[in-house]
Amino acid sequence: GLIYVLNGPNLNLLGTREPEIYGHDTLDDIAGRLEDRARELGLEIDMRQSNHEGHLVDWLHEAQARDARAVILNAAAFTHTSVALLDAIKAVRTPVIEVHLSNPHTREEFRHVSFVGRAAKGTIAGFGATSYMLALEAAARF
Ligand code: DQA
Repeated sequence: GLIYVLNGPNLNLLGTREPEIYGHDTLDDIAGRLEDRARELGLEIDMRQSNHEGHLVDWLHEAQARDARAVILNAAAFTHTSVALLDAIKAVRTPVIEVHLSNPHTREEFRHVSFVGRAAKGTIAGFGATSYMLALEAAARF
């Protein structure tokens, strides 16, 4: 089983970006841990990051074309703005698990709305890098 792990804007700066909110782990640290666990579960990870909305849309289409079992998606700020991502999630059959490092509901009002969440199979938020690990555990049980 192939699992796409897609990351949106500013997550390339993870580790140094507002560490009091997002922690000290880099995206590479998280990728390493996901790959280790995926190997144990007999899954394959394809992990990517982009600051560009359209790349995330293209990769959701690609996940379906490659018959991925699931997409783990941290759309970052696009979570709260992107009708295009919502439509892409609805356009593919591949189940999408929404993840966040922080818990957006405890933060500013504008983070309380999630376009991604309106079409995601489920959401895991607030556990730092562990949110990704929990999403992988969920995907392994699909
Ligand atoms: C985030 C939460 C978003 O509100 C924010 O824009 C991010 C990261 C998270 O993982 O906690 O960039 O998706």
